[in-house]
Amino acid sequence: MILLLGCISTCAPSAPGGPGHYAEALLMREAARRGDLLALHEAARELEDPDLRGPDVDAVHGAVGMALIAEDGEEAAWALAGIVEACGGCHASSQPPVRVGGPKPPHASHGRAGEAMWSALLSDDGLAFSASVEDYLRLQPEHDVQRAHAARNASTRSERADAWGELLVECQACHAL
Ligand code: HEC
Ligand code: HEC
Repeated sequence: MILLLGCISTCAPSAPGGPGHYAEALLMREAARRGDLLALHEAARELEDPDLRGPDVDAVHGAVGMALIAEDGEEAAWALAGIVEACGGCHASSQPPVRVGGPKPPHASHGRAGEAMWSALLSDDGLAFSASVEDYLRLQPEHDVQRAHAARNASTRSERADAWGELLVECQACHAL
């Protein structure tokens, strides 16, 4: 019951853009990719919900708080990494574990591979994460290969989230406004 209460206000059970807060989380992800602090802060304010209950909700709040005060692209990326790690933590410990669907490989573009990384993080699926990093590298060969290799080899939820945060900083190199 507590789990469900947490989720009703945290997640959209259906598609992105549906009820709940998944739409805001997606807006934050896109803002972090572009290093757009105004959009990031706006979405973070929407995601601040003092009524949330459940495991990892404190961690979600903590990371949203970091997003609210992020002053540059790097801080934005780290805040997002903290958010996705906390979301994935609750999903992994839910019964049954929650899987968030994403684009399946092979991906048609590096952007789709990036979306697959996010879904893999939310689903706490290490294999899917490595596979999507691999695909991302194939489709975006200009990315710093060393960092991407570190992401592919990350072995825990927290390592994967950290590695993803570092990749996100590099998305900004091309995608910043
Ligand atoms: C307190 C636990 C908890 C937290 C924290 C949490 N979720 Fe969820 N989430 C769930 C549960 C349980 C479900 C499955 C039931 C449902 O859809 O309501 C779910 C379902 C989802 C789904 C739909 C999966 C599908 O395709 O059916 C998405 C998307 C999602 N969560 C995203 C997020 C994001 C993004 C965050 C972090 C901002 C987050 N969740 C944080 C527990 C949580
Ligand atoms: C070397 C530069 C470069 C890097 C690094 C890069 N991108 Fe891109 N990206 C582009 C360019 C150029 C386009 C537009 C042409 C295309 O679709 O390839 C694009 C398009 C996209 C799109 C689809 C169109 C849009 O803007 O919404 C998405 C999504 C995307 N990138 C996500 C990402 C993510 C996520 C990362 C980091 C994990 C990333 N990109 C890293 C250059 C880059």
